[in-house]
Amino acid sequence: MPRAIVSPSVLASDFGQLTAECKRMIKGGAEWLHMDVMDGHFVPNITMGAPVLACVYKGVPGIFMDCHMMVSQPEKWVDDIANAGGSLYCFHIEAASDPLAIIDAIHSRKMKAGVAISPDTPSTAITDEIGHAADMLLVMTVYPGRGGQKFLERCVPKVAELRARFPDKDIEVDGGVGPNTIDVCAEAGSNVIVSGTAIFNAPEPERVIALLKDTVNNVQAKRTQA
Ligand code: DX5
Ligand code: ZN
Repeated sequence: MPRAIVSPSVLASDFGQLTAECKRMIKGGAEWLHMDVMDGHFVPNITMGAPVLACVYKGVPGIFMDCHMMVSQPEKWVDDIANAGGSLYCFHIEAASDPLAIIDAIHSRKMKAGVAISPDTPSTAITDEIGHAADMLLVMTVYPGRGGQKFLERCVPKVAELRARFPDKDIEVDGGVGPNTIDVCAEAGSNVIVSGTAIFNAPEPERVIALLKDTVNNVQAKRTQA
């Protein structure tokens, strides 16, 4: 299984201090920063887009921006996000008319490609061809659209299904993930952990980041021994 990575969702941060918030997370041990881009169409809310990401990248050079694109026409923003400094472009399969073409476009801009599935989308929507072409698969554990929602445990079996089919891919979970829900995610085989409110609302975010990462590492170590 690929290595454990924690990707704090900046949706739960103080947007007025975005650059400082990202630096705070990196200092606390985060390797990736999860940037939730919402277009008011694929999901009801609007958050931020490429101009904001470009400012963050300028303020925190070299930052790994894990861009979660909750947008209706994902092919439309690949260039803008690449130009803004995006490292990974994750689009929703529900919004994509030609997922393989989008993955190609993302790769041609030297970004990693992620494919997300919402709670009502089965893991089989990720065909073998799409799964092998992508670098990361994202299993949403809440309905996309806002932070601070309750973790939907019924989505977890999809993580295990995808892990069985794609042992070497990054598999990310996103939505309601924190110290109380990490165990089932790690056991199912996810290795990239997004967490917003559980990290940003904690008095010591570095402790939550370490706990999430350690949980994934411990599960992996147990599997290797078995
Ligand atoms: C929801 C977003 C998530 C969310 C996670 O639409 O994709 O990234 O911000 O936040 P928490 O961890 O608070 O559920
Ligand atoms: Zn997200």
